[in-house]
Amino acid sequence: MPGNNLLTHQLTLQLSLCYNSEKLKNKKMQTVAPKSTHVKFLRYPGGKQRMLAFLLPLLPVADDIKGAYFEPFLGGGAVFFALTPHKAILSDRNKELINLYAGLKINSDAVWDYFQSFPDTKEDYYAIRAEDDGPLELKAARTLYLNRTCFKGMWRYNSKGKFNVGYGGQGRRWAISEKSLRDVSSHLKDATLLNKDFEHVINMSNEGDFIFLDPPYKPGAKEMDDGHYQYGCFSFKDQQRLSDALHSASERGVRWAMTTSSHPDVLRLYLESCKITQIPHGTGSRLGIIDENPGEVLITNY
Ligand SMILES: C[S@@+](CC[C@H](N)C(=O)[O-])C[C@H]1O[C@@H](n2cnc3c(N)ncnc32)[C@H](O)[C@@H]1O
Repeated sequence: MPGNNLLTHQLTLQLSLCYNSEKLKNKKMQTVAPKSTHVKFLRYPGGKQRMLAFLLPLLPVADDIKGAYFEPFLGGGAVFFALTPHKAILSDRNKELINLYAGLKINSDAVWDYFQSFPDTKEDYYAIRAEDDGPLELKAARTLYLNRTCFKGMWRYNSKGKFNVGYGGQGRRWAISEKSLRDVSSHLKDATLLNKDFEHVINMSNEGDFIFLDPPYKPGAKEMDDGHYQYGCFSFKDQQRLSDALHSASERGVRWAMTTSSHPDVLRLYLESCKITQIPHGTGSRLGIIDENPGEVLITNY
């Protein structure tokens, strides 16, 4: 279609501009090496861990964020843990995930004690999965246990909001330790945790704040097909709502960066006023080099 050709052309132009940009080279670079403490903490398919080496140089360093750091689609929080901002507002619509962070923030040792105490057969897994009541630390330990022992670390809920991923085995359960949970807890010490829709969180931001966003990709992208982290459906209407909220944030003087699908419908929402950088596969020595098209882009308003 001619419209799509035009879009592809515009996009190619923007991408090449981006790669040649002196701005990027002169930008204050993120010098903090990705911290390893959180790596083994949560399994989060589609998390940004694998592309930190590419992303961090394109984001402000903690000292360069005058206000608060916002992450409204927190998930496994790979960027938050690596960037270690001074003041953070972290949110996700997944209540069990936020309860896990809240439990760790308050008392990671109690979470560890519960986690250790859970038995280890397939039948036990289903019994623990069926029971989601109890004090916050117990709920946090249950979520962590399910995450570490479910099939492929998937996050999927049924229509009643119940976690429904099948058993995966005990093989990855003990990759975490009491110390790794304490590290997560200390990272969260000064963070505010919210269980809100993204629009509410973006609307809280003001001049001087920085928002990092990693929304679910447009349905049809790999993660959605695989049911990796389905928490409700992220429709195109949500993509439009997101773009409206971000354009308003830009007008308030908020800086933001978002990883998202390079689907033309999504890109069209940002083409006019934002910079779009294609994300290359892998994050190793070939920083910033496009190896092949992974279908993901980084969109920034700076
Ligand atoms: C791609 S994941 C984030 C992954 C994360 N960046 C990481 O490194 O692990 C997207 C997250 O958005 C959350 N989410 C989906 N719809 C949402 C909504 N309307 N508001 C807030 N969060 C939402 C999901 O629960 C999921 O945790």
